[in-house]
Amino acid sequence: MFRKIMAISPLFAAGLATILSAQSEDAGGDRPRVNTRMHGAAAGASAPNPDSIVVPETLSGPAYFGQIAFEDSCASCHGENGAGGTGKGPPLVHPIYEPGHHPDGAFLRAATTGVQSHHWNFGDMPPVEGITEDTVALIATYIRELQRANGIE
Ligand code: HEC
Repeated sequence: MFRKIMAISPLFAAGLATILSAQSEDAGGDRPRVNTRMHGAAAGASAPNPDSIVVPETLSGPAYFGQIAFEDSCASCHGENGAGGTGKGPPLVHPIYEPGHHPDGAFLRAATTGVQSHHWNFGDMPPVEGITEDTVALIATYIRELQRANGIE
């Protein structure tokens, strides 16, 4: 038994070293990652450190109200400032949610019908009870202003 462990341990060590070096290439460490089923450049990209998110100094009027609604209905999973870090949902300030890949219609669909887990491993997003199209539009405006402040266009 002992002999067998000794025989496989170099392999194990090599595997561990590979995993560790792969992680060090991207500062994401053990933060949640976009899963590899996702195609495109952001596949495998880690969630940002929630503390590294840049918060714009000023918000437009609609975004200001969007922030209030977001904090009420979305931040419990998507995190304060849409930065993630809750363990229940992804950051929305992330390159995969740029307008070209997830236009505002994706926000409305997500909020009203929910989302089947596909980009991450947090599970499904349930529909948000009682949310209106106008409120989601304000929330999307808020998230876009956060995204732009973080170089996501
Ligand atoms: C109970 C937790 C939870 C709440 C509350 C929640 N979400 Fe989500 N949301 C998730 C999870 C989990 C995902 C990721 C699904 C996946 O793996 O792609 C997600 C994904 C999304 C997406 C991406 C949709 C897509 O097409 O890939 C958008 C946009 C979104 N949420 C917006 C919102 C908005 C806006 C609110 C508030 C009105 C909200 N979410 C509230 C958990 C939540």
